[in-house]
Amino acid sequence: MKDIEITTERLSLKPLGSAYLETVNAYAMDYENAKYMCRLPNEDVEETVKFLADVEAEWAKEKPDFFEFAMLYHNEHIGVVGIYFENGVGELGWIVNKKYWRNGFAYEAADALVTYFRDHMGTTHFIAHCDTENVASYKVMEKLGMTRTGEYGGRRNRAASEDSFEYRYELIFQMNHKNEV
Ligand SMILES: CC(C)(COP(=O)(O)OP(=O)(O)OC[C@H]1O[C@@H](n2cnc3c(N)ncnc32)[C@H](O)[C@@H]1OP(=O)(O)O)[C@@H](O)C(=O)NCCC(=O)NCCS
Repeated sequence: MKDIEITTERLSLKPLGSAYLETVNAYAMDYENAKYMCRLPNEDVEETVKFLADVEAEWAKEKPDFFEFAMLYHNEHIGVVGIYFENGVGELGWIVNKKYWRNGFAYEAADALVTYFRDHMGTTHFIAHCDTENVASYKVMEKLGMTRTGEYGGRRNRAASEDSFEYRYELIFQMNHKNEV
């Protein structure tokens, strides 16, 4: 599909791909940066290489099922925000290099992503999941206007030796009669 580029006040969101290997790897193999994630941390660079190849292949499809964006701040790659579709519902995800935490970047990128997919792709239902201990992540969800709609056991973060609990958050936009949000 045609590359999508989304611009925010401070960030540029561009299709993620192999060109970002070094900067993705910097957080993808870092325990503190990835301890609450189910698919990270990666154990070696090869895992990051494979992930980025999959992301690039998805972007090349006519109708991708998921979209991963690099967050660029003054041209520096500082994190990723993504949306994965299943039955029309968009699941949001994010990670920011820990050097850039608490500057509002995850929120700024995710908010722009939601707006873009709502306005240009007609997405009206967004969800997100996170470990119940991942305060930073559910604060982003709450700031986006999402509502907590579930809490489940049985989450296994990759770096964990036992299961934990997770929250589900949702955001639903009502379409009016003219089919506009
Ligand atoms: C979750 C994550 C992406 C947030 O990134 P960020 O850019 O630091 O978040 P923001 O600066 O946009 O913060 C958004 C809100 O969350 C709050 N917040 C962020 N980190 C927080 C923390 N550790 N504790 C409490 N609140 C926090 C911010 O204060 C802000 O709210 P406010 O504007 O009302 O003050 C980042 O912590 C991260 O990369 N974590 C590791 C990866 C991860 O766990 N991803 C989610 C997997 S489900």
